[in-house]
Amino acid sequence: MTITDVRKRYLDFFAKRGHVIIPSAPILPENDPTTLFTSSGMQPLVPYLLGQPHPEGSRLANSQMSFRAGDIEEVGDNRHTTFFEMLGNWSLGDYFKQEQLPWIYEFLTQELKLPKNRIWVTCFAGDDSLGLPKDTDSAEIWKKIGVPEDRILFYDAKKNWWSRSGTPDKMPTGEPGGPDSEVFFDFQTQHDTTFGETCHPNCDCGRFLEIGNSVFMEYLKKSDGSFSKLPKRNVDFGGGLERLTAATRDNPDVFLIDAFDSARKAIEQRSGKLYNEEKATRSFRIILDHSRAATFMLASGIRPSNTEQGYVLRRLIRRSILEVDRLGIKSAILAEVAKNYTEVYSNQYPFILKTSDVIRLELEKEEMQFRKTLAHGLRELEKMGNNIDVFTLFTTYGFPVELTKEIAMERGITLDITALTTKMEEHQALSRAGAVQKFAGGLADHSEQTVRYHTTHHILLKALQMVLGPEVHQRGSNITSERLRIDFSYGQKMTPEQKADVEKIVNEKIAQEFPVTRTIMSKEEAEKLGAEHEFGANYPDQVSVYAVGPKDSTETNPKFSEAFSIEFCGGPHVSNTRELGEGGKHFKILKEEATAAGIRRIKAVLE
Ligand code: ALA
Repeated sequence: MTITDVRKRYLDFFAKRGHVIIPSAPILPENDPTTLFTSSGMQPLVPYLLGQPHPEGSRLANSQMSFRAGDIEEVGDNRHTTFFEMLGNWSLGDYFKQEQLPWIYEFLTQELKLPKNRIWVTCFAGDDSLGLPKDTDSAEIWKKIGVPEDRILFYDAKKNWWSRSGTPDKMPTGEPGGPDSEVFFDFQTQHDTTFGETCHPNCDCGRFLEIGNSVFMEYLKKSDGSFSKLPKRNVDFGGGLERLTAATRDNPDVFLIDAFDSARKAIEQRSGKLYNEEKATRSFRIILDHSRAATFMLASGIRPSNTEQGYVLRRLIRRSILEVDRLGIKSAILAEVAKNYTEVYSNQYPFILKTSDVIRLELEKEEMQFRKTLAHGLRELEKMGNNIDVFTLFTTYGFPVELTKEIAMERGITLDITALTTKMEEHQALSRAGAVQKFAGGLADHSEQTVRYHTTHHILLKALQMVLGPEVHQRGSNITSERLRIDFSYGQKMTPEQKADVEKIVNEKIAQEFPVTRTIMSKEEAEKLGAEHEFGANYPDQVSVYAVGPKDSTETNPKFSEAFSIEFCGGPHVSNTRELGEGGKHFKILKEEATAAGIRRIKAVLE
């Protein structure tokens, strides 16, 4: 069958059973700051699974565009893709296990005509410590429908529990989840013992493929770590369209389904290599997957950049280009590959066809730029001879570490990978933190005077808190080489005395010659230290923190407990507050005024 056949059969099947077919939500989540991409059909439905009534009723189904960034590195085997379509059906407090499992079985065996003897199922084994019972109900239902007992297996929460955040222990308070019952298709291929002595549905050797997952979403995580029941029992089913289609073809390779046919042929033609050639398959799969995901992202309005969704898109495109290179294709090809996808998906997702020009232009631009980067980096690498500096190649020339490693290996050159890993981690933390700071806005440029004002800004915020009260927080900033400006939460006009007090404190800290230190730490650690952060900003897991003082604080031993000020900040800053007073300068407030209800603004200078 084709993806169009399978998708249609599924939606018709559930429509006949009282389900309203709802459109796919965009892969760029709407009103959900917790995640970068829609990665399952239930994600846009969370409020309804929690109990809010859905305008279309209590039985819903759809085919949802989904993207899982966490699977990028997995792509290359016969079944992982980052982008996929998830067929889903939901009961919002309507039917439960008794209807769901027989329907799924009927759909698989009658509609898709999958042989019954190739179907295995798994159920939740329960978890006593969490008070979560074993799901014997599901097992009984499977048995009754005709699944032989030896093909009904129980697994713990690592395998048979589903929530957006994974296992029960990982779920935050207020998150819904539940035990699930998964269906696996047995391709009856030879077991590969490198994956374990014996084969079973959850073995990764490739014989079994998970083709459907019925989650019985009836639990809510409580703040004390235990679980309560949701107001209603829900069903959340998800089945990968590509995998289901592969099962109908009795071929475990999802890249051989019709959706990839024309794109695969285009790559074969340009490379002169066949998909099935031993050394080419992995590269083909990465290009096929990544360029399809990139096509959907571009059509959804995402553009390559260095942050958030744009960064993931850029990474997909660049990883594809490296594989294109590996296949010996030396000129731009991604736009051509993408064109095949715009055609394949034109009926189901017309917005893709409508944006095909943008998709082409963006891919051409990005591919050209990256090829230039590669060529430049390669010239620099050649200049380095046997002393290849992977880190500089990456940070200064944007040359991929993976590629440097490969070239070094080909030439028998050893690279110092341990030192590199540490440096890379530091670098990534800094650039992420820097990206956040840039996003938060503030600095007009990085001139010496602007940097001085930036540090002054930190001291000023703390001084304001000391004089006006700890509830004062930053609500905006704008710093140029001429002056600093800070917006902060405070309800009244400052008195002349308060202004004088603030000025006095700032000037004292300048005179005390406090060192300014930067430390990279986890967001939790920084929060524990009480570091100031921008209201509403979305910080990464690793953040950069600047501390002013105490006198004997150093970068290797920042004495946070005695620091005058600690802030989440990407920098840059002066290294000692003495620099702010150079040339006999003093801090002075020029203006203090209201900008909005409860928000004051100060303009100040060093003069
Ligand atoms: N939400 C479930 C999953 O993604 C169905 O597997």
